[in-house]
Amino acid sequence: FFSCLDAQKPDPLLSLIEAFASDQRPGKLDLSVGVYRDDHGRTPVMRAVKLAEERLVRDQPSKSYLGPDGDRRFAECLGELVLGRGLSGQARGIQTVGGTGALSIAAGLLGAGGVSRKIWLGTPTWSNHLPLFAAAGLPVRTYSHVDEQGGGFALDAFLAAVQQASPGDAFLLQGCGHNPTGIDPDIATWTKIGRALADRGLIPLIDLAYQGFGAGVEEDARGMRDLLGVVPEAVIAVSCNKTFGLYRDRVGALLCYGNDAAGLDLAMANARGIARCSYSMPPDHGAAVVRTILDDAGLAAIWREELDAMRNRLRATRRALAASPGADALGLGGVAGQGGMFCLLPLDGAQVERLRSRFAIFVAPDGRVNLAALPLERVGAFTEALADVALR
Ligand code: LMR
Repeated sequence: FFSCLDAQKPDPLLSLIEAFASDQRPGKLDLSVGVYRDDHGRTPVMRAVKLAEERLVRDQPSKSYLGPDGDRRFAECLGELVLGRGLSGQARGIQTVGGTGALSIAAGLLGAGGVSRKIWLGTPTWSNHLPLFAAAGLPVRTYSHVDEQGGGFALDAFLAAVQQASPGDAFLLQGCGHNPTGIDPDIATWTKIGRALADRGLIPLIDLAYQGFGAGVEEDARGMRDLLGVVPEAVIAVSCNKTFGLYRDRVGALLCYGNDAAGLDLAMANARGIARCSYSMPPDHGAAVVRTILDDAGLAAIWREELDAMRNRLRATRRALAASPGADALGLGGVAGQGGMFCLLPLDGAQVERLRSRFAIFVAPDGRVNLAALPLERVGAFTEALADVALR
């Protein structure tokens, strides 16, 4: 049976983790997978996380099962962080295995209920979005996320896609820090997006993985919250992997938002059913850490300070890149005004390969660069390498 299975290509992004680890060159630089790195290339465990873990080791009374919802208080606290006090009362959530687990359950929900729904993606998008929804059996349609000038959100393309969609279809939107482009809709555009979806009976599915890596924790949630103010229902897939630096612990939540309590109960019951058939119950540790932090004003303040520091460093890197000689020609002119961890450079496969072979700089195959891993002091060397591969 095994030998009948289809051959698989390695995941284009995750395979770089191994390729980077086995590269022996000193000074190698990993700007591929979306992980924050300090000036020494390390991804430290956040102090608030370590403190919360110490408390858990000391006080956790049991490791018995929690059930398919996982840690309920975690989902409540995270719901408040994401939606704010005002809207969180209209949402219910369950803990998931990272943001990807939340998207997977969301895909299951969209495919449930005997209604045939398509999912619409603005492209380019995270390299796992399309395979994930296709694997769940949802027909995928795409439209352009970026306008023709390459610097802003393509509202026209979005509105045209909305007109082509059938009522009941879902639109995947990234709540902030668009992966891979860093280009988000302007704040005023979110309400327009929400109204357009609501008018046509379309479902917003919001992927939120970089809250706090743009303008601030509250600021980054504002557009999404404005959208929620004008739609009857929405599904939100939240990742804590980046915001709490808990990457390998795989912490996320699926939030369902709406005014109809009975509808929300049904959504949660279905989400639980999907989780049960997949992994039964999520692993506890990472979510318990996040809950411990968010439930304690002192730990939450330490966490916010650490997240602010990561964001400020990232913004300084963005400013330095945008101010580099020849920034426009290198595709870096707009990065200071963008958000999240990434920017997308106009590099083809051969240029990406040359960056790696000649300069030991690893970026994603589509030209995505993780700016959260670029130390300020290496900005000059990075832009020189870029000029070598892009402008020669
Ligand atoms: C990324 O986009 O680099 C991360 O979200 C890691 C992943 O799962 O692809």
